Amino acid sequence: MAILKIARMGHPVLLARAAAVADAADPEISRLVADMAETLADAGGVGLAAPQVFRSLRLFIYHVPESRADDGQAVAARVVINPVVSPLSDELVLGWEGCLSIPGLRAAVPRFARIRLAGLDGAGAPFEIEAGGFEARVIQHEADHLDGVMYPMRMSDFRYFGFNEETSRYGLKLPEDADAD
Ligand code: NI
Repeated sequence: MAILKIARMGHPVLLARAAAVADAADPEISRLVADMAETLADAGGVGLAAPQVFRSLRLFIYHVPESRADDGQAVAARVVINPVVSPLSDELVLGWEGCLSIPGLRAAVPRFARIRLAGLDGAGAPFEIEAGGFEARVIQHEADHLDGVMYPMRMSDFRYFGFNEETSRYGLKLPEDADAD
């Protein structure tokens, strides 16, 4: 396994539409997935898409740690190949997102509250799940990478865009959080 270099915003690989994976069971794909898992663990993120490691393929990995799960239920590491994401309603929620390709920054991004995800798993077997909350957010963020879409391109209010250090230091809150006070 190997820790791979992560592309940063501004590199054209992050703006390209990635190609479908022709054979999900190809050992080369399994190796890429293993390297991506090691890279993600090293970087300390929750998701990583193949274009972020300079491979323009429709593939991403993610997990949801207990601390980030809306219901306290962690989601174990999942491999998603050739995904299709469909919203289950029109409801959008605003929430914080970061990206390993935009280090040090975070922003409030609107995402569909509930989605269906279909694709192939790491063994090439088809699966379909429904997801909500933070998991739905991560899936939409990672799937966007496969279409050359970075989270700033989804933002609705640039006041909620800042450095992690500063937004934490000054407790920048989203309008929805403020309403709850
Ligand atoms: Ni990202």
